[in-house]
Amino acid sequence: MNTQLQIILDFIQQNEKINAEEKEMLVKAIKKADSDLAISEFKLERTDKVKRTTAILLEETIAELELKRKAIEETNAALQQSLDNLKAAQAQLIQSEKMASLGELTAGIAHEIQNPLNFVNNFSEVSKELLDEMKEEIENGNYDDVKEIANDVIQNLEKINHHGKRADGIVKGMLQHSRTSSGQKELTDINALADEYLRLAYHGLRAKDKTFNAAMKTDYDESIGLIKIISQDIGRVILNLITNAFYVVTEKKKQQPEGYEPVVSVTTKKENDKIIIRVTDNGSGMPDTIKEKIFQPFFTTKPTGQGTGLGLSLSYDIVTKGHGGELKVETKEGDGSTFIISLPEN
Ligand SMILES: Nc1ncnc2c1ncn2[C@@H]1O[C@H](COP(=O)(O)OP(=O)(O)O)[C@@H](O)[C@H]1O
Ligand SMILES: [Mg+2]
Repeated sequence: MNTQLQIILDFIQQNEKINAEEKEMLVKAIKKADSDLAISEFKLERTDKVKRTTAILLEETIAELELKRKAIEETNAALQQSLDNLKAAQAQLIQSEKMASLGELTAGIAHEIQNPLNFVNNFSEVSKELLDEMKEEIENGNYDDVKEIANDVIQNLEKINHHGKRADGIVKGMLQHSRTSSGQKELTDINALADEYLRLAYHGLRAKDKTFNAAMKTDYDESIGLIKIISQDIGRVILNLITNAFYVVTEKKKQQPEGYEPVVSVTTKKENDKIIIRVTDNGSGMPDTIKEKIFQPFFTTKPTGQGTGLGLSLSYDIVTKGHGGELKVETKEGDGSTFIISLPEN
């Protein structure tokens, strides 16, 4: 019993002024108070214990949280690293896709350069002969003839210069195609750009495969004038679409040699404030299951080594992100497809 209560209890019991009945009642009350006190003490101690355990638990939780925070930090760093790696890999992929399409172009470029080169060679030979003649006429004193020959030579040199510049332009275009995009929009003759790539793609395929043939149809809207685009990038998109179109008509011709005439057409049109470029083929079209996937990177139905599956996904990015335009496809299985590039006029 609590010592203070014990003193009171002893005092009561020894006190003769309190009668037996009163003593019993007081002793009962004191014992009850003692037991209440004991319970309170016990409860207090328990609360204390709980407090201590809670504090310990709290400390543990804090330590655990700190560990988790560190783990998240590490994961974040790892994620950032992966993102950087992915970005680098993507840049490399774009570059290799460019190189692959450049490969597709080389034969076409060689063909395109051959023409101006032939002109340059022929006209320079003719000019040399003319100058030999001129020397003779000078010796004979026929100055009227000399003048005439000189005029012919001048004309020839102008032609040589013209064709030399054309070859120069083709080579520059080729270099530009493989270079990383400047990302600069410049005023471009979209009709000339489409036509250039159509010819390069066509002659490229012809040079690689003599049996390849397809009718090319063009319809350019001359009212378009110059539009502001990243010409290198849009050129690449057009080339991708044309190469895909030539591929699909060639495959169809292989399967169906009789009574099928492959046709690929390229058209441009100004519609309201949009410039629309359509590349149409009468190939085999696509079922919905394929149509849904063609803009995904790496999706290809071509045999390994022939398709990267990147052409359309890169084209999609160039048209949408690079130019705020749209790239869509309309296709009918068995009949062919039309890819539609739509660019804002400005
Ligand atoms: N003109 C088309 N006609 C039918 N299918 C096409 C046409 N163009 C693209 N495709 C389909 O889209 C796929 C992806 O094209 P693309 O991204 O250019 O990659 P790749 O040409 O390397 O396969 C092709 O493999 C083909 O299945
Ligand atoms: Mg392709």
